[in-house]
Amino acid sequence: MRIDVITLFPDIFQGYLSESMLKRAIERGVVEIHLHNLRDWAPDKHKTVDDTPYGGGPGMILRVDRVVPCVEDVQAKCPDPGHLVMLTPQGRRLNQAIVEELARFPRLVLLCGRYEGFDERVRLILRPDEISIGDYVLNGGEVAAMVVIDAVVRLVPGFLGDEASNREESFSGPDRLLEYPQYTRPREYRGFRVPEVLLSGNHQAVAQWRLQKRIERTRRRRAELLGGGWRSIWAEESGGGYPAGEPGTPSVVEEQPGRKEGESFPVGGSPAVELGTPLSIPQTEGGLSRLECPQEARPGCSPGDTGLDSEGH
Ligand code: 6GU
Repeated sequence: MRIDVITLFPDIFQGYLSESMLKRAIERGVVEIHLHNLRDWAPDKHKTVDDTPYGGGPGMILRVDRVVPCVEDVQAKCPDPGHLVMLTPQGRRLNQAIVEELARFPRLVLLCGRYEGFDERVRLILRPDEISIGDYVLNGGEVAAMVVIDAVVRLVPGFLGDEASNREESFSGPDRLLEYPQYTRPREYRGFRVPEVLLSGNHQAVAQWRLQKRIERTRRRRAELLGGGWRSIWAEESGGGYPAGEPGTPSVVEEQPGRKEGESFPVGGSPAVELGTPLSIPQTEGGLSRLECPQEARPGCSPGDTGLDSEGH
């Protein structure tokens, strides 16, 4: 994949491109990144690229007669003009689905704005795909362009050693759930034990536990991501049954002192039992051991106002 970046600050990219995983990908020829300084398209001796807005107001506007020729020249460097992306807080907000869309193009041209923005005619003439990376304002599109590059190149075949690691990532795969909790050695640290099921060697139980955790975690942290696609995946993994505690599934008794159905955790309170204990997942000795509950191991620290579940996730 080839990515061209048009910016007034090409130096901002140098460290990122030469230090990160991208460096190796560029060396291996998996991606090509070309930086272009917009100022090089200013014909006047002061190299001006911006001017004050007609109608008054604060800030400076990037001139259409600098930006359009620059983009056209950059696009003409290859037979494929590429997919033109304008980084702007007014664009559609980036998510993994958009990242996947962008990764399908063999060439991207990223146009970074600075100052108060572009002359509107840049949009009218070039019809760029306008992308924002979130609902906050940055000083310019450069950091946003790096975010786009970082997210997109991971999906380019050959960038990651293990292509499978993409599928299990948060927001990826057909369900777009958050990632499950991961553990490595040691088996116990400061009273926190690795959940038994992960040590069991039972691959089906592990897969089921992980899916359960992904659903629970997504519901607690990002409920708006739960479209319901996970239900069919759950049915497939578990051979029927339901993850307990999910709205719209048969209800189970939630043993949670101090919290009624639908109430948030009382401040300073402590859910003693894992929410949504699955109906069909094999459990060791009635579920979590004391030591798997961080609250038990950390007196004085409660999850009441943290938004974390009873395992601290
Ligand atoms: Cl792409 N640019 C700027 N300046 N601010 C942003 C943004 C982009 N995305 C979120 N905030």
